[in-house]
Amino acid sequence: MTIDLSTPPSPSASSSSTLVPDDYQVDPENYWVFGYGSLIYKPPPHTQLRVPGYITGYVRRFWQSSNDHRGTPEAPGRVVTLIEHSFWESLTTDDSSKIVNQNVPSATLDPHAAPPNGKTWGVAYKIQPEHARAVKEYLDYREKNGYTEHRVAFTTDSTFLQNHKKSTQSNSQITLPPVLTCHVYIGTPDNEAFVGPQNPEALAKHIVNSRGPSGENKEYLYNLHRSLQALHKLDPAVETDNHDKSGTEYYWPDDEHITDLVRLAKKYDQETNIY
Ligand code: BEZ
Repeated sequence: MTIDLSTPPSPSASSSSTLVPDDYQVDPENYWVFGYGSLIYKPPPHTQLRVPGYITGYVRRFWQSSNDHRGTPEAPGRVVTLIEHSFWESLTTDDSSKIVNQNVPSATLDPHAAPPNGKTWGVAYKIQPEHARAVKEYLDYREKNGYTEHRVAFTTDSTFLQNHKKSTQSNSQITLPPVLTCHVYIGTPDNEAFVGPQNPEALAKHIVNSRGPSGENKEYLYNLHRSLQALHKLDPAVETDNHDKSGTEYYWPDDEHITDLVRLAKKYDQETNIY
């Protein structure tokens, strides 16, 4: 997917994000955390259960800068955040006076579709009650670069739910409802590290060229892509074979933003790392 740079649109938002941080209260017996980025492949400590599933009403985007994990204050990398779907839809080209972040470059409209079935896949973690407060402190610190805490309704993957119910009959385990309320960390459009829409080629190059205390920014992208592939395979609506007839790896259009960035980053990485 490419964007036409010859006629750069000027992005704007016709409405503002309505997300506000919640009151940060934790019920230790019922502390669930939704991971949609690095938490998918790097779980928090003291997890009791890892549950695949999805949320709706959001779009996952590499629109947050990172100066403490995948970049530095001098050269921030890029990491994912969640954008409210209604806000994402309102980003249009027709009124630049309402732009959320005046620093975004030209040609900034988002060329990638929202997930066609409206699902943002991720993982919900149940934290051991005796460690709930400590884990919350750990996550608050780990995700301090512009993220605030919110709550979302998480739908458990139906196959996982059925299997869990079956196994619960024999062993007494955690009760797993089909829908859970989870704590989640979001970089909302008003936070200082929010970048907003970026040209995909420029964003992919930026990711390849960035690194920070947690490692290469591109590894964050590739790890996220791999872990999402594993989650997408759970969704019966998603094609499970990711190779075309010639055996070449095929990128699912399902999370087009991530798969397109992976394609562009690998291409750029190969072009610039020829020894
Ligand atoms: C995550 O889900 O991995 C995550 C994303 C942004 C901030 C904190 C956690």
